[in-house]
Amino acid sequence: MQLINTKKELRSLLISLDKIKTLGLVPTMGALHLGHLSLVKRSLRENDITLVSIFVNPTQFNNQEDLAKYPKTLDRDILLLGSVSENIIVFAPTSEEIYSGDITSKSYDFEGLENVMEGEFREGHFNGVGTIIEKLLTLIGPTRAYFGEKDFQQLQIVRKLVRNLAVPVEIIGCPIVREPSGLAMSSRNERLPEALRQKAAFIYSTLKGAKQQFGTKSADFVTDWVRKQFGSQQDFKLEYFKITDEDKLLPVIQKEKDTKYRAFIAVYVGDVRLIDNIAL
Ligand code: PAJ
Repeated sequence: MQLINTKKELRSLLISLDKIKTLGLVPTMGALHLGHLSLVKRSLRENDITLVSIFVNPTQFNNQEDLAKYPKTLDRDILLLGSVSENIIVFAPTSEEIYSGDITSKSYDFEGLENVMEGEFREGHFNGVGTIIEKLLTLIGPTRAYFGEKDFQQLQIVRKLVRNLAVPVEIIGCPIVREPSGLAMSSRNERLPEALRQKAAFIYSTLKGAKQQFGTKSADFVTDWVRKQFGSQQDFKLEYFKITDEDKLLPVIQKEKDTKYRAFIAVYVGDVRLIDNIAL
């Protein structure tokens, strides 16, 4: 395990690496769990070198309280990564190191992907994500970069960013890792009291119900059904439920045979906002 904190250390490390070796990058904001580790393990399998970045990126938080509350568990994260492999480089820079005092986002055109769902409810979020991912890809120059389908919209946006800027990296999407109850793993789950954490499994069971219904019913019908399910649940406040195609993330007008669809959800469980999605 090698821990580096500065761009300078990163540069000299990258120079010392054999140029023919493949480098896998796993960008994270820390507070690591088994979802993150699944990306790390895949990178370890597919690359000679794996670099995990741990950086709570201020520009992607539209809510300052959310940023302040974001768990910082670097020592624990390093132990966890060490339990997977000793052969990992951890890059954990400060905000100053990354933004040099100018904590602002670039403005991107992701051709509409940024305006729906998370983009609609978290203003500026994807400009922040784009800014940090562009910076990391430029600094590190990985062969491959790993992202979870847990944040499917983010994954599609990163794919778009890389294509638009012609960054020579392969973006790898990895399946959602879930708790035994079905709840998608997230650092935010830690903020749920145990009783609500168990109840939150309702999100995934409803998504599975939606998937089943989408086999025979229209997107509108399924959307109404999901809204009704949440309407009768205390402790849950549905922010959005959408069924879209996977590429453009646009609503379904009429189901097409060769189009892949996905259902997306954002729900408050108590005061914790959770997101999840399912391929239909
Ligand atoms: P973070 O929330 O720490 O997530 C880092 C990566 O882990 C993301 O690609 C995310 O989709 C993936 N991930 C999280 N939970 C997962 C789960 N249950 N199953 C599979 N993958 C999961 O996403 C971010 O950080 C940031 O926006 C970042 C990309 C690092 C940019 O700041």
